[in-house]
Amino acid sequence: MASASQSEATRSEAPFSATHGSSVAPDPIAVYAANIVKSYGTVRVLDDIGATLQRGSKTVICGPSGSGKSTFMRCLSGLEKRNAGTVRLLGRDVKPDGSSVRDFAGRVGMVFQSFNLFPHLTVLENLILAQTKVRKLSRRLAEEVAADYLNRVRMPGSEQRYPSQLSGGQQQRVAIARTLCMQPEIIFFDEPTSALDPEMVSEVLDIMTLLASSGITMVVVTHEMSFARRVADSVIFLDCGRIAEVSPPERFFSAPSNPRAAEFLGSLLGR
Ligand SMILES: Nc1ncnc2c1ncn2[C@@H]1O[C@H](COP(=O)(O)OP(=O)(O)OP(=O)(O)O)[C@@H](O)[C@H]1O
Ligand SMILES: [Mg+2]
Repeated sequence: MASASQSEATRSEAPFSATHGSSVAPDPIAVYAANIVKSYGTVRVLDDIGATLQRGSKTVICGPSGSGKSTFMRCLSGLEKRNAGTVRLLGRDVKPDGSSVRDFAGRVGMVFQSFNLFPHLTVLENLILAQTKVRKLSRRLAEEVAADYLNRVRMPGSEQRYPSQLSGGQQQRVAIARTLCMQPEIIFFDEPTSALDPEMVSEVLDIMTLLASSGITMVVVTHEMSFARRVADSVIFLDCGRIAEVSPPERFFSAPSNPRAAEFLGSLLGR
């Protein structure tokens, strides 16, 4: 269960399984963020917000366009510079200057709306690049890992295809496989299905739902309500750069306490 506030805020039979066993008890907090402020020029887009997310938790972030969801997620993942506040991932400080991404390479993954596959590389080359460069795996082992994850995202045998030869849903599943090949402990998803045609949305959400049953920590910006109800243990609603509500999904979707959240949910239903 997430808590958030303005001022504190390899292989198994299962399709996905927790991959990071250790005899040392890990920090139970996956993401800790407090008092984050982010401005573009004179515009404050994140206004003193934070969140504490337990390891293994599944958190959905939603809110109106421009409310700061992507910026918040990018600050949490260390991709974005922030003006103030503290972020810790897996017990380790994230520098405020946006330079920490490399510190967490492999342990923290990201999946974006626009897939971000390298268009000039085959699926296989996309999947093995970071494994060989960052994880320092041999090409042969990286290829085995890639084949395993392509299988898990229901894309077996697609190694030699190029991204342009795949549908949007297939590209997103490959992008998810690429992230999983690094065996991250936390994955941030920023609207992973919003660029997809409706018939492809469920194939990606199905994979994400399977993934959620592993021990991985997931933070997902999405407006897919049925997914949020099924998977999330907590929903964070952002409005104008502030956290307006944090609730379990069953409460958030049936009886949100914040009037802006109620209005927002009404607009989603009316679409
Ligand atoms: N690089 C930038 N320069 C200036 N302003 C920016 C920049 N990136 C984001 N913003 C502004 O910050 C605010 C928050 O943007 P953000 O992309 O985080 O919103 P969002 O909630 O993810 O929106 P959407 O649902 O449309 O993806 C918006 O007002 C946006 O215009
Ligand atoms: Mg966004």
